[in-house]
Amino acid sequence: MKNKPWVRRKNSKKTSSYPKDGATVHAWIIFLAERLAESGLSFENGLQEPYQEAEYLTAFAFSISLELLDSSPNLRAPVDAHARMEAIMEQRIVRRIPAAYITREAFFAGHRFMVDQRVLIPRSLIENIFDAEGRFDAWVMLPERPLFLDLCTGSGCLAIALALAYPNARVHATDDSLQALEVARINIANFGLSDRVMLFEADLFRGVPSVRYDMIVTNPPYVSRTTMASLPEEYRHEPTMALDGGVTGLDFVGRILRQAGDYLTPGGVLICEVGDEGEEQIREVWPDFPGEWIWFHFGGSGVFCLERSLFPEKVVI
Ligand SMILES: C[S@@+](CC[C@H](N)C(=O)[O-])C[C@H]1O[C@@H](n2cnc3c(N)ncnc32)[C@H](O)[C@@H]1O
Repeated sequence: MKNKPWVRRKNSKKTSSYPKDGATVHAWIIFLAERLAESGLSFENGLQEPYQEAEYLTAFAFSISLELLDSSPNLRAPVDAHARMEAIMEQRIVRRIPAAYITREAFFAGHRFMVDQRVLIPRSLIENIFDAEGRFDAWVMLPERPLFLDLCTGSGCLAIALALAYPNARVHATDDSLQALEVARINIANFGLSDRVMLFEADLFRGVPSVRYDMIVTNPPYVSRTTMASLPEEYRHEPTMALDGGVTGLDFVGRILRQAGDYLTPGGVLICEVGDEGEEQIREVWPDFPGEWIWFHFGGSGVFCLERSLFPEKVVI
């Protein structure tokens, strides 16, 4: 029999056993939350903590909505709850599959996206710059009908969030992975945005239309090789090419800084995510880096913005 780490073993200190027949959904949530918490999982690319993830996965396992769960605290679990929960635990605890890939959905900027292992699970820090309407109004003046480029689009989450927040905008979205582009295409169609969000297969700027953009937004791969080697198992279900940024992690960021200026309008702006490690490195090796680090309410950001006129002659990363 396959190893089942959630089954209570003799002398184990685990606190709760399987809920009994006829137990409430809530009892199963507690049970799953405890199993998740004690199994050494990473929640970084998911809902961040065991209870929330248990609630979400239990609702999925029992085919009930989170709304129903909220409004009916004494809801009974289905008769085959045990088997359903084992299937979830085998995926999440034994195989360490992130919750989003189990449910094939992820939420970003208040929208629901279809995801699977062809794309990174949406969690870009750029989401933290959006205002309540999902726009950049507080700090960037964009024209009435902006043209955006979302470089390295993955699931299409940033491109779609921008198209929804700016109803007059057009968005070009690119990726070098045909598989990612397939998922992005599904999401764009699901949101009814096929007339305003166009996809291009491109190796960074090689394959991008020769036009000028009012804003380029990008969350490129930026994990350094050292960090890649120590990532929790959950990340290994995500496409390596979505994470691997080369030895220092800054290979793509350097290329973007060398080329993005040629694709921006005179007042155009680049918004680029590089993560905490990337920000630290850039601050260290490039003291007069012309980009502005965006400050988030929870501290440092790992995201910079750079206006067209400030693009450097020489890129030192
Ligand atoms: C960090 S993921 C970001 C995905 C999405 N924008 C998001 O925020 O969830 C980086 C993406 O870059 C893509 N990518 C990797 N190498 C690329 C390249 N040379 N040119 C364009 N895209 C590339 C990957 O396929 C992946 O979808």
